[in-house]
This record gives sequence, C-alpha cells and structure tokens, in this order.
Amino acid sequence: MSVGKSIRRSSIVMGVAALGIGSAWAFGGGCSPTTTTSGNAQGQPKATSSTSGTGKDGGSAGAAPAGSAALVAQGQQTFRFDTFGDEVFWGDTIKLHQAIEGAANGGVGPGVSPAAALQLGLKVDVDALPASVVDGLKNGTVDLNDPATTLALLRLNAVVGVTGIFGGTDASPSPASGPMTSMGIQCALCHSTVDDSFAPGIGHRLDGWANRDLNVGAIVAAAPDLSAFAKLLQVDQATVRKVLTSWGPGKYDAELSFDGKALRPDGKPAATLIPSAFGLLGVNSHTWTGAWGTVTYWNAYVAVTQMHGQGTFYDPRLLDKQKFPVGARANEGNVRPAEDKVTAKLPALQYYQLSLPKPKPPADAFDASRAKQGEALFNGKARCATCHVPPIFTEPGYNLHSADEIGIDDFQARRSPDGRYRTEPLRALWDTRKLHKGGYYHDGRYATLADVVSHYDQHFRTQLSEQEKADLIEFLKSI
Ligand code: HEC
Ligand code: HEC
Repeated sequence: MSVGKSIRRSSIVMGVAALGIGSAWAFGGGCSPTTTTSGNAQGQPKATSSTSGTGKDGGSAGAAPAGSAALVAQGQQTFRFDTFGDEVFWGDTIKLHQAIEGAANGGVGPGVSPAAALQLGLKVDVDALPASVVDGLKNGTVDLNDPATTLALLRLNAVVGVTGIFGGTDASPSPASGPMTSMGIQCALCHSTVDDSFAPGIGHRLDGWANRDLNVGAIVAAAPDLSAFAKLLQVDQATVRKVLTSWGPGKYDAELSFDGKALRPDGKPAATLIPSAFGLLGVNSHTWTGAWGTVTYWNAYVAVTQMHGQGTFYDPRLLDKQKFPVGARANEGNVRPAEDKVTAKLPALQYYQLSLPKPKPPADAFDASRAKQGEALFNGKARCATCHVPPIFTEPGYNLHSADEIGIDDFQARRSPDGRYRTEPLRALWDTRKLHKGGYYHDGRYATLADVVSHYDQHFRTQLSEQEKADLIEFLKSI
C-alpha cells in the first residue's frame, strides 16, 4: 500500500461526484474518466491541506474564535472521510473489498448488493448522490440487488463510513473506470447514521449518532482473509468468524484485540453497544468503562489499534501481560509507524466531537408535567442525581463507579484500566428508534427505561410507587 494510492483515491472520489451532476454517470457501467477535480461536489469542507500544519491547529496561545469554524470543518472532514491509511488493513490485508465486489466484479463470493448493505446496517448519504441517481432510485431503475450498484455508490463516496479505492494500481492509471482495489473505514461507520429522509437507511448524515443497526461483526466476517485476526488472537479463522458473527447489530468489541476475551463468563459475546459520540462536552472519562483517557486518547486508540490506521499510539498500561496478553504480545501499547497519518488530525477531531450537541427531544416525546414530577424524584428520592449530575448527567470529576455500586456484574469494567463503569452522561434517552435501539447499559441488558428504573429501585431500595416510576421515566425521556 502506498501513499500514491491514497492520493489518487481522493481525486477519484471528488472527480466522480462532480461527474455525477452532469448525469453522464450510470450505475453498473464504467465511468468516463475525463472529469478532473475542481471542487467538492458535496459542498463539504476540505481539510487535507491544513492538516499538514502538524498540530498548530490545536492552538495554545489564545485561539481566536474565527479559527473554531475551521477546526470544526477540519474535524468533520476527518470524522467523515479520513481512513488514516487503514486501507492497508481492510483492503490490502483482509481483502474486505473483494467480498463487497463479488466474483462477478472481480472479487469473491456473491458480493454485497445495496439491499444487503442496508440490511447489514450500512447507510447511504443522500447528499452525495447526483440528481440522476436520486431519480433512478425513485423510479426503480437503479438495481438495489446488484453488487455493481454498491460499487457505484462507493465511487460516489455515498456509503457512510466506507471509502472504496478504485483503480489504484500502477498498471491501471485510469482510476475512475478501474476496479475496486482496496477500501478503508472511517469513524462515521460506527458513529454516524442518516435521518432516513429518502428511504430507510438513505438520508442526510447525522454525525455522532451511534449506528445501532450496523452489524460490524457480520461485515468483517465476510472478508476472505481473516488470518491477520487469527494470528493476533492465536486462534483459527473459523473461530474469528464465529466470534465476529456472535456480536449482532449495534455492537463492537473494542477491547478484544488487547485482552482476547471474546466471551463473558455467562457465555454471551463480550461486545458492547456502540455509544454515541455527541454530548460529551464537559464529560471527564470516556467509553462505557472510562479511565482510558479523554476523547482524544480514545480517538488515537481507535484510529490506530481498532481501525488499523497508520499512526502513533502509546499507553504502557496496555503492555501489561496479565491484563492485556494479546495487546502486550503485539506491542499494541507502543505503536510507532514510519509515517503518522493520525496524530496531526487529533486536535480538530477532538474539537469536532466536543462540538456535537446531543439532539433535543421532540415536543411529543414526553409528558411535560409528569416529567416535572419525575425531575424532583431524579434529584431526590430516586437518588439518580448523586451520580448523574445535571445538566451534564455524569459527575464533574472522577465519574467512575464499581460494578457493586450500580448492582451489576464487573466483567466489562475489569477489562478497563480502573476496573469501573463510567456514569453514562445520559443522552437522548427518548430515542429508542435509533440511538438506544438495542437497549440500555453497556451491553443493552435493560431493554427499556422501565427495566432500568426497576433495577435501580431494587438495588437502591428506594421503593418507588408505580406512579413515581412512570414519572421518573417521563423525565428521563426529556433528557
Ligand atoms: C467499529 C466501530 C467503531 C469505529 C469505527 C469507531 N468507534 Fe468509537 N466507539 C465504538 C465502541 C464500541 C465504543 C465503546 C467502547 C467501550 O466502551 O469499550 C466507542 C467509543 C467511542 C467514544 C466514547 C464515547 C463516550 O460515550 O464517551 C468516542 C468519543 C468515540 N468512540 C469516537 C470515535 C472516533 C473519533 C472514531 C474514529 C477515529 C471512532 N470512534 C471509531 C465503536 C467504534
Ligand atoms: C452510583 C452511581 C449511579 C447512580 C446513583 C445512578 N446511576 Fe445510572 N448509571 C451509572 C453508571 C455507572 C451507568 C453505566 C452502566 C453501564 O455502562 O452498563 C449508568 C447508566 C444509566 C443509564 C443507561 C444509559 C444508556 O445510555 O444506556 C440510565 C438510563 C441511567 N443510568 C439512569 C439512572 C437513573 C434513572 C438513576 C436513578 C434511579 C440512576 N441512573 C442512578 C451510575 C449511576
């Protein structure tokens, strides 16, 4: 994998998007490679040139407010489109792009049609589609059962969180019409969804929203060559596939590659729900278990050790052979590649995420007068506010608790540095359709807010009446 390839990739993406406007582009067919890049047809800010400023953007000395818009734009670009060079892994190493292409298009197996991709929870950005394609989707002339259509969508950079790399071989310098040669993933894969404005799974991007439809495990399991995972975990590929397919939608295991724990003691998969990446301003510790570090710690952790981007990552705690045998073996706590495609992007990426607010509940999401009663309970008798301190709904300070304190098992907590759970900064609890699909708590063990409230009522022996529980739930839905 070379630098040349990734540079060529970005020009393809924009070239094809620009081309689509003129409707010269057709699904399944080759693209005319004539168009050159003049701008970004999607109207998204470009951050590529400014990232070479090696972190100056992180700004210490009195960053002017004028700079913040540029930082947000740059961070958004990274969050949505930057692969950090991870195509070396997802394409070149495990060859996931071949499974997407299918044998008919030069890959392997049946391929992934748009219908199958939507089924796997992948999302399509309607703003990346030229009018001709939108029309084709409306009048049914676009074949959603043909993997070639998925390739066409990838050429348009319309699949949220996935970048297809086309025609990047030195032998075939005409990338726009060339075959898919590799692929990479972005933060947006797991932490963005769409508003379904066009059709289910097709709409405008919602950055920071957990994609609880996304079946990461099933997608990765489709890759023809899982030997890299097998080698890392010291198991065979069939076992890797079994683990990946056990996760189900909305879940991922961000610690497996360090501690090698695929299963909980009760035999269920160790994967956790994908959390949202908005509403984090003012929150100290991150992820379900916390104690890793701040948002920027986690961004580096994910970009380098989970997405397999090319970047520096250092945390000697992860070299502990007892606690993190797999990570220690692979030296994942001290990654120092020759070329670093992550570090310079961390300042703006952090800034962007902290700028994402949690979505407000629609007016009809809860009963306002009962929520008022519920708020008093939350802050008083029900004891919720001792940990979920409003308005950030987590503790200012050390926002972690032992499993005993919240009355659950400690399996997931023990996989993290401090062995605790992070007080969830309650976010958009009203939305069970997308954001909290899959339930509440790190593993979705409580299907509904009523289940959560009953659990706390028993655990804290607060003896709430049915009416009080119902009022408390109305308040939770207003958060
Ligand atoms: C394959 C899916 C996946 C990808 C890709 C991914 N994440 Fe995550 N993210 C997760 C999961 C799962 C967690 C929870 C991990 C845990 O608690 O162990 C998480 C946690 C987080 C958190 C903590 C949220 C909180 O509530 O404190 C942030 C912030 C975050 N991710 C940002 C990012 C960024 C930025 C990127 C890109 C560099 C990224 N993620 C890529 C799955 C993903
Ligand atoms: C001792 C501190 C503590 C108290 C008191 C507490 N919580 Fe929590 N809460 C937590 C922690 C820690 C988590 C994360 C659990 C996990 O990761 O599985 C959490 C998670 C939650 C969640 C799940 C959020 C999500 O996105 O999945 C809800 C809802 C919630 N709490 C509501 C409440 C309510 C209502 C009360 C009062 C009845 C309450 N909590 C009292 C610490 C506390």
